[in-house]
Amino acid sequence: MTGTHSGKAFYAGLLEALTGVMGSAKGYLNDHGPRVAMLATQLGSELGLNQQQRSELVFGAVLSDMGMVGLAEDAWENPVAELSDEVRARVRQHPQRSEMRAREVPHLESLGPLIRHHHEWWDGSGYPDGFGGEDIPLGAQILRLADTVTALGAPRPQREALGREKILDIVESGIGVEFSPTVANTYLRLMRTGEIPQFTDAAYRHTVLRATEHLLPEEVSPPSTNQLLTIVANLIDAKDPYTGGHSRRVALLAVSVADQLGLEGHIKSALWSVGYLHDLGKLAVPLRVLAKEGKLTDEEFEFIKAHPTDGAEILEGIPTLRHLTTGVRYHHERWDGGGYPEGLSGDRIPLVAQIMAVCDAYDAMTSKRAYRNSVASTSALEEVARERGKQFGPVAADGFLAIPSDIFEGLHGSRPEAFRDIPQRVQTLRHIDPRWFTSEPVHRP
Ligand SMILES: [Fe+2]
Ligand SMILES: [Fe+2]
Ligand SMILES: [Fe+2]
Repeated sequence: MTGTHSGKAFYAGLLEALTGVMGSAKGYLNDHGPRVAMLATQLGSELGLNQQQRSELVFGAVLSDMGMVGLAEDAWENPVAELSDEVRARVRQHPQRSEMRAREVPHLESLGPLIRHHHEWWDGSGYPDGFGGEDIPLGAQILRLADTVTALGAPRPQREALGREKILDIVESGIGVEFSPTVANTYLRLMRTGEIPQFTDAAYRHTVLRATEHLLPEEVSPPSTNQLLTIVANLIDAKDPYTGGHSRRVALLAVSVADQLGLEGHIKSALWSVGYLHDLGKLAVPLRVLAKEGKLTDEEFEFIKAHPTDGAEILEGIPTLRHLTTGVRYHHERWDGGGYPEGLSGDRIPLVAQIMAVCDAYDAMTSKRAYRNSVASTSALEEVARERGKQFGPVAADGFLAIPSDIFEGLHGSRPEAFRDIPQRVQTLRHIDPRWFTSEPVHRP
């Protein structure tokens, strides 16, 4: 396999991870996006959309609510029927925010109009632009209907799932108001003839892979892969306003540790990617828990404790990202066995995860959190030294403590010189090095 192909496979895997995590980011709406995607592509093919346009619908359906992350997630978590005016105003900004994020993703720019207009109504009373009728892109007309009927067919905290007849009534009475007549009538016909298949994860996954195949060019460059990593990381960091840039800094620190320990090639690339993705599972943690000031209840802490496993499970399902799984799963383990999720200790914690743990802890200490102020770099380094052999693996801690001080100083800058070559390496991320899974001693060359 050539480097070019592996670049594309890795990029496609990242897109799939993004799709997967957005599916779980909505709590009780769980597979809402994937269900919308399946229904929308079926409507799309009935309405004569070509393969390219149907592929755009798949990603449009799942990514159109990216803008809610860190902006108006309380709307997803709302246990009562009514949203306050203030929350409603924030919700109305999400299509533009989602559009902005999608436009930053190389090869997904074409989703822009689809995403921007997914809340426009046929009669012009929707948002953000009040477009009506055929001024609304056909893909967005389809998403509007698919989104609404999927939401009605699923239970919400304040109501049961609506039955088939009730949904058909709502669609009929929404023709020419919320829904495009053509799209709505197509949906009604398919429903009445029983042609809409049951949703399955397997069919969805197959659809995502095919759509990726159609949307991506043969060659995906390493910088664009790196940009997609950055975008996923920004989405993760948006969950927690106190830690903006956290994932990128952890990636930079992890690569610096690799330099100190003489780890090169694939393991260094893995450290880079795992740094960006280690908190992927945080996208599924409710905002009310992450943003809480004060002590968490046991139930709330369970949500936090699930994030390494949730992130690892998404990556595990994706062959080209599977080698990143253990670094993500075990980044909160402690050398002395007191960490989570499994309480692994010592050498049983994979080296990549040991390195993540120390970089993550350092960045958490030196960042301002909801419940405390940041500490100075020197005190954080003292803490790392104190916890060597307790919280942190000795090899990882030694590597960390050997990082030259100018790296720490440049950490909050935009792109430290020392890391310029890293994006060139991400596309080689295909081979599994046994050292990622053990912590056999490594020596400087
Ligand atoms: Fe939306
Ligand atoms: Fe974490
Ligand atoms: Fe973290």
